Amino acid sequence: MSNETRLLQHIQSSIADDSFVRLTLSKPTDQKGILKKVIVSLASIKKETQLSFIYRHKTNDITKNQPIKEGLVTIESQLSGEFEIANLFTTSSDFAYERNGGKSRLKEKPATFKTAPNRGHDKEKRHLIQGTDYLQLLGVLDKNGRVLKDKGDKFKQINKFVEVIESLLKNHELASSKKSIRVVDMGSGKGYLTFALYDYLANQLKLDASVAGVEVRQDLIDKCNGIAKSVGFEQLNFELGYIGDYALDSTDMLIALHACDTATDDAIAKGMAANAELIICAPCCHKQVRKSMTDSQGLDSLLQHGILKERQAEIVTDAIRALLMESKGYKTKVFEFISTEHTGKNLMIVGQKRKKTANPQQYLDEVEKLKQQFGIKEHYLESLL
Ligand SMILES: C[S@@+](CC[C@H](N)C(=O)[O-])C[C@H]1O[C@@H](n2cnc3c(N)ncnc32)[C@H](O)[C@@H]1O
Repeated sequence: MSNETRLLQHIQSSIADDSFVRLTLSKPTDQKGILKKVIVSLASIKKETQLSFIYRHKTNDITKNQPIKEGLVTIESQLSGEFEIANLFTTSSDFAYERNGGKSRLKEKPATFKTAPNRGHDKEKRHLIQGTDYLQLLGVLDKNGRVLKDKGDKFKQINKFVEVIESLLKNHELASSKKSIRVVDMGSGKGYLTFALYDYLANQLKLDASVAGVEVRQDLIDKCNGIAKSVGFEQLNFELGYIGDYALDSTDMLIALHACDTATDDAIAKGMAANAELIICAPCCHKQVRKSMTDSQGLDSLLQHGILKERQAEIVTDAIRALLMESKGYKTKVFEFISTEHTGKNLMIVGQKRKKTANPQQYLDEVEKLKQQFGIKEHYLESLL
């Protein structure tokens, strides 16, 4: 029996007899990839025990939960190809697995942990956002500070978003110099993320933060300004405005989360023109590029079904956005910021201003190539630039 199979059996039996503590998978075969490690634990989710995977990337963590059976299949494939080291901790023994080339070994060692951890959902307990007043007024928490039944996904999204901000600001001069920080949130909507971001910057990082939400709906502006005033968030303001027309001279950070279709492009263009250090957006619908896709170069089979065309359009739209940001001197990252079980709109594009500008033409050539391949007549962001 191979060492992988033996390890899998130990994993399976430790789950069955509740002695499983944790499994870590490290040393990815793709050393240059952004995924560095996977930590697997057991979590009770909606009263069902599931395997909870924390995918540790270079700059952020993504958690995904899977029923045990599916999770074991995932672990099997990670063991056989993606990672070369695995450490299994159970309350009876530890197991250290290592693969090198075609050879592998599995060592059993005395148990590090004598008791199994609480199977509660660890991630749910780590909440970066502190203020409860505004979350109650925004209708996320009830008067006892509990998350309202239909707001669980929103609450997770808010926390995940602040976790992303936390990791971006770690060692970033925007936070370390403790100077003032100006943020604009384009398409702030009901203000959930705007409030949480202000709370994090001003009350946790203790920065002199001023945050402006920009929104076309007057009712939301009035409501958010009222809540900001009542909780004493003095430098959080919401302004009525259309993103494309908003006068933004300079800003440190621009966010645009789920701003509709080309509103994301308007926001990115504004952020780059304002020389923002960080641009963070989670695109929403991607209609503009889809409508503009015609005469693709031999890719008809990828585009002939509506749903496939829709998804290709999303990917191409965001790939071009990232390339255009690179061409303007932003180092970009594109990743899923939250598990799809909480929102389908989970892709995030982050642009961080480079100290030195790279050669823009290489990125513009890539844009041209993609446009030609997919028969795209126009990408709205490109036309804005
Ligand atoms: C889906 S909501 C997202 C709200 C918030 N950013 C969030 O993620 O929770 C999008 C918001 O953007 C606003 N919006 C869309 N296009 C806009 C534009 N061009 N200018 C200003 N606001 C816009 C909409 O009115 C809506 O409130």
